[in-house]
Amino acid sequence: MINLHAIKSLLKFYFASDTYYRVHSPFLFELLDNTLEDDRHYYIFEEIEALRKKLLNDHTILEIEDLGAGSKTTKNKQRSIKSIASSAVSPAYQSQFLYKLAQYLRAQNIVELGTSLGISALYLSAYSSKVNLFSLEGSKSILEVANNNFRSFNKKNISTLLGHFDETLPQAISNIDKLDMVYIDGNHAKKPTLKYFEECLDNIHDQSVLIFDDIYWSREMTAAWDVIKSNHMVRLSLDMYYFGIVFFNSNIKKKQDFKIVNAKFKPWQKFI
Ligand SMILES: C[S@@+](CC[C@H](N)C(=O)[O-])C[C@H]1O[C@@H](n2cnc3c(N)ncnc32)[C@H](O)[C@@H]1O
Repeated sequence: MINLHAIKSLLKFYFASDTYYRVHSPFLFELLDNTLEDDRHYYIFEEIEALRKKLLNDHTILEIEDLGAGSKTTKNKQRSIKSIASSAVSPAYQSQFLYKLAQYLRAQNIVELGTSLGISALYLSAYSSKVNLFSLEGSKSILEVANNNFRSFNKKNISTLLGHFDETLPQAISNIDKLDMVYIDGNHAKKPTLKYFEECLDNIHDQSVLIFDDIYWSREMTAAWDVIKSNHMVRLSLDMYYFGIVFFNSNIKKKQDFKIVNAKFKPWQKFI
């Protein structure tokens, strides 16, 4: 089904966005230079992408519980691993950005809402064994596949929690001293997204970063993003179309909102 809101928003975003060439904030320029505009490729990327390829060819049918946006009650339905891998998992460029962001910010205590098959969790936890990632998933059969994937990567720094985010997010937070990074990639509706945001706000520090996936997936998600970036604790917001990211760094005296696109999509901005 064509998502008109997402298409219209993409056009608006493209025309309104800037590249890092036009960013005057030293904090943001450095961050983009080391993440979005950094084209270093790490060996682990190939290993994770090989797993994605395997999942994309896996016809095993799972009985899944859908706890996400749109389902008022828990619904059981059947889906192949192949179909989940092709439609519900962050693509390589987004996941690799997450790896670089975690690495650049030296995020150690990370929470992910929405494990799915484990692809983004593998990226988020890969830059150092010191990372302590809690990844939350509501669907038992999907989480079993993710846990197998983590075992095949011999991961010791990912803990998974099964259940509704309403229960598992407070559980994860209570196991962590300070929340360095949170990736919210599940239950894409306004009310729950704002609820998770509020819960995280009680546990952040100056260097924390919260990443919201799919902020233009629906009008509701865009409305949630508008509320999030306007929150008085947010010092800098970064709209990358597929992700909305907020920072709380108190050194940023004047609150700023940016829409940033990769420089390859507006190469002329290097000169004008
Ligand atoms: C988009 S997928 C996550 C993709 C994963 N982060 C990746 O990129 O590899 C979202 C996942 O969140 C789970 N989910 C959605 N709403 C949930 C809820 N309220 N509680 C627990 N899990 C939920 C779904 O079962 C789904 O597997």
